[in-house]
Amino acid sequence: MQNDLFSMRGKICVITGGSRGLGKAMARAFLHAGAKTIYVTARKSEECEQTAEELSKLEEGGECVALPGDMSSGEEIVRFAKSLAERESHIDILVNNAGTGWNGSVEEFPEIGWDKVMDLNVKTPFFLTQQLLPLLKANATPEDRAAVINI
Ligand SMILES: NC(=O)c1ccc[n+]([C@@H]2O[C@H](COP(=O)([O-])OP(=O)(O)OC[C@H]3O[C@@H](n4cnc5c(N)ncnc54)[C@H](OP(=O)(O)O)[C@@H]3O)[C@@H](O)[C@H]2O)c1
Repeated sequence: MQNDLFSMRGKICVITGGSRGLGKAMARAFLHAGAKTIYVTARKSEECEQTAEELSKLEEGGECVALPGDMSSGEEIVRFAKSLAERESHIDILVNNAGTGWNGSVEEFPEIGWDKVMDLNVKTPFFLTQQLLPLLKANATPEDRAAVINI
């Protein structure tokens, strides 16, 4: 009963910043719950590919695919969305997990730090969701909705 409640059987998911940390843990958990395919993205392509390879070997049988890219760039977001649309006719879940911080006191906090944090943590989730809306809507029904999770 509980397994059914939290089942992700057959779901296709995107997790930004899925190469390590919380994003990787979520990718693993989704695959454990039966997800069919998890797309992970991060800037360092080698780490991203390694994670995808590692998670694709889990017993549950789902696949983890690396689609590296810098999600703080509008152009790369568009490229990512196009590349995803070439592979999938829909997605079920988008996790906007990639995020960053900047250490510094209020007195000395630089504008470049503000822009870096706000770009990746606020602007990126909005525009990535915008670009992926067609795929999120494609298979969604009132009974089985698509979901966007913002970390
Ligand atoms: N860990 C915590 O205690 C904690 C607490 C509160 C909130 N959070 C939030 O939870 C999320 C994950 O945190 P975490 O601790 O797991 O972070 P992490 O270990 O630093 O991992 C960050 C992930 O995001 C990717 N990333 C960073 N910048 C990116 C960019 N421009 N484009 C694409 N991918 C990018 C990183 O890969 P690359 O470096 O290769 O790009 C990595 O996969 C963040 O949003 C963070 O703010 C975490």
